[in-house]
Amino acid sequence: IPVQPFDYVVFGATGDLTKRKLIPALYHRFKDGQFDENSRIIGVSRSKLSDADFQNAARDAITQFVEKEYQDAAVIERFVNIFSYIINDVSNKAGWGDLKKALRDDPEVVRAFYLAVAPDLFEPIAEQLSKTKVYRRDARVVIEKPLGHDLLSSMEINDGVAKIFEEDQVYRIDHYLGKETVQNLLALRFANTLFEPVWNSAHIDHVQLTVAESVGAGTRGYYDESGALRDMIQNHMLQLLCLVAMEPPASDDANALRDEKLKVLRSLKPITNGDVAKMTVRGQYKGVSSETTSVASYQDELPEEKKGSRTETFVALKAEIENWRWSGVPFYLRTGKRMASRVSEIAIQFKPIPHSIFDHAEGAPKANKLIIRLQPDEGVKLMMMIKDPGPGGMRLREVPLNLSFAQTFSERTPEAYERLLLDVIRGSQTLFMRRDELEAAWKWVDPIREAWERSSEPPQSYVAGTWGPSGSHALIERDGRTWHEDEN
Ligand code: BG6
Repeated sequence: IPVQPFDYVVFGATGDLTKRKLIPALYHRFKDGQFDENSRIIGVSRSKLSDADFQNAARDAITQFVEKEYQDAAVIERFVNIFSYIINDVSNKAGWGDLKKALRDDPEVVRAFYLAVAPDLFEPIAEQLSKTKVYRRDARVVIEKPLGHDLLSSMEINDGVAKIFEEDQVYRIDHYLGKETVQNLLALRFANTLFEPVWNSAHIDHVQLTVAESVGAGTRGYYDESGALRDMIQNHMLQLLCLVAMEPPASDDANALRDEKLKVLRSLKPITNGDVAKMTVRGQYKGVSSETTSVASYQDELPEEKKGSRTETFVALKAEIENWRWSGVPFYLRTGKRMASRVSEIAIQFKPIPHSIFDHAEGAPKANKLIIRLQPDEGVKLMMMIKDPGPGGMRLREVPLNLSFAQTFSERTPEAYERLLLDVIRGSQTLFMRRDELEAAWKWVDPIREAWERSSEPPQSYVAGTWGPSGSHALIERDGRTWHEDEN
């Protein structure tokens, strides 16, 4: 079903995000017939381009970033036809008049502004939108990280946007929330009766969240300013933690869900001062060179003036949620660049059976484990014990009850942005972060970072292509547990 017709205004139209993510995502939704024919995409940027130039850029983005099998020449032509372009920068008065003219006054046409620009431009752009009467009370604004580098700067950004836009108009993207499997977590927990009764400290021993990437930090200047704690933990991983840990919301209403996530964030036990060294580990990759591979270290990738940087490319930490449901159940989080493989998963480790009747069997019963694989090979796996088939007596074996999405469903899995970009038009904020969530997450993360900054210890180094520094294993082994992949 098509969404309402819209004018999607993309600031930062010539940037990387627009090219790599936004245009390909919009293309897929267009191709699937989800655009009303009256919809338009209006690129805005300082570069002196014409409509035709921008349409060409859109064509290029599709050729480069959409899988070949979905590139359909006729569809691409119809798609780029809805693109137009306006030259504008915050200080240029003329550009705003042009933008106003390009937009339709019809209240049935949803007006959305995607600010794919640096956060210091959010406030000036919002002010111009208001001054030049491009702003409408029912317009929507989409913003994305980095939404600050700590609590204070994040509040400033939010305040800047809030001068013009009300909270119900602000769509803060965390693209992890748009991932199919992340939404599936909601289905798994709240569309089944099986899990919720055991989803607590009586039955769960601990939870592990892993987001490992095999790529390096590359030459993105932003990364060295940010580091893994700000880049991945503050947003994506805490959002995952919230979805695993939150109480069932009363409905799928955006605020019902976000209220529950916020409660989790506020129940996180602060990790401060002396505890930081005990509960967290940070790492930085060093290179490897052998006859078959050669991978540069993080330091080698940095420009001269940044050499010696202590930015972490890996974080592991132990989080505790202080509420009835989760008391005593640690959540171990880890994320890093240049890890052994690209894998994001959530592992729920259940407690062992209270009493075994299998003293004379071969193989002891192992505790159940539920693994939710976000990427790649999306799926859900429940590790359980069965009797090995055959007449030879009771032999116990752990086998997966395995649901692979690729094998079960033939549909293509949409990218996160496809869902999120159209949710903006639908007016659904469920999969977007509310201001108080974002700030609660910063509040928890800030003391960790501050303690690291005060510390004389550098990050531990780990060899590129491994599962991180030895401290990460020590962190969990100290509690008598192991990281999920260590057992395989
Ligand atoms: C981004 C981070 O938000 O998420 C990147 O800035 C990271 O550093 C990326 O690579 C990971 O996203 P995905 O969807 O590839 O898991």
